[in-house]
Amino acid sequence: MSRTPLVAANLKMHKTIAEAERYVQALLPRVATADGVDVVVCPPYTALGAIVDSTRGSRVAIYAQNAHHEDAGAYTGEISPPMLTEIGVHGAIVGHSERRRLDGETNAALAKKVPALLASGLVPMLCVGETEEERDAGEMERTLRHQVHEALGKTPKDRLPEVVIAYEPVWAIGTGRTATAAQAQEAIGFVRALVGSLAKEAAAQVRILYGGSVKESNAAELFALPDVDGGLVGGASLEPEPFAEIVAAATPAR
Ligand code: PGA
Repeated sequence: MSRTPLVAANLKMHKTIAEAERYVQALLPRVATADGVDVVVCPPYTALGAIVDSTRGSRVAIYAQNAHHEDAGAYTGEISPPMLTEIGVHGAIVGHSERRRLDGETNAALAKKVPALLASGLVPMLCVGETEEERDAGEMERTLRHQVHEALGKTPKDRLPEVVIAYEPVWAIGTGRTATAAQAQEAIGFVRALVGSLAKEAAAQVRILYGGSVKESNAAELFALPDVDGGLVGGASLEPEPFAEIVAAATPAR
């Protein structure tokens, strides 16, 4: 089963609208020949509308960095899936470890967010990953099992293949400490098996990315692993040149 690789730039809380515009104008020509790769940019909310407009018709899709599960309601500061669909956004990251740690994002909330995004026609990019303490205590599999089973437990089984999962070990995010190829393959193979335990056929179809200090120098090795379908890139995505090189590393050989 061949899965289309996906490489996403998580800009986090970086770039004003003007900065994000300059970024995509520099990025678009650099990824124009990346045939066979889905390229995603995740700007902050304020830049979403402008960047959707300036990437329309290109190979770059635009995702938000979070979304609420309700369509509307008394949720101050939140943005709903239909609001994202209205401006042409294609998907949303949910469950990023920074939001789990700093904003109280729970697996229970994610269980509602993933099907809500799918119902609005958006691709959910669900982040999972263990902390260093959990890994050291031999609890990586337990953590991943909880995260995957709880966050995807309310998603209709026939829609699971549309979900993108990003395995991001928390100890590798923004630290420069990338998981080794063996660690990434082991964890992502395990996540794939967990998806299979929810819906057998979905395991071979769901795309699972690696995230955590992906850079130009390690992307090719990580993306070549059998269960790794691309990457979610933070720091190394903030400038167009290194991000375009990472996209190129995911481009299937012709
Ligand atoms: P990093 O961030 O590439 O800077 O480690 C990845 C992420 O947080 O998605």
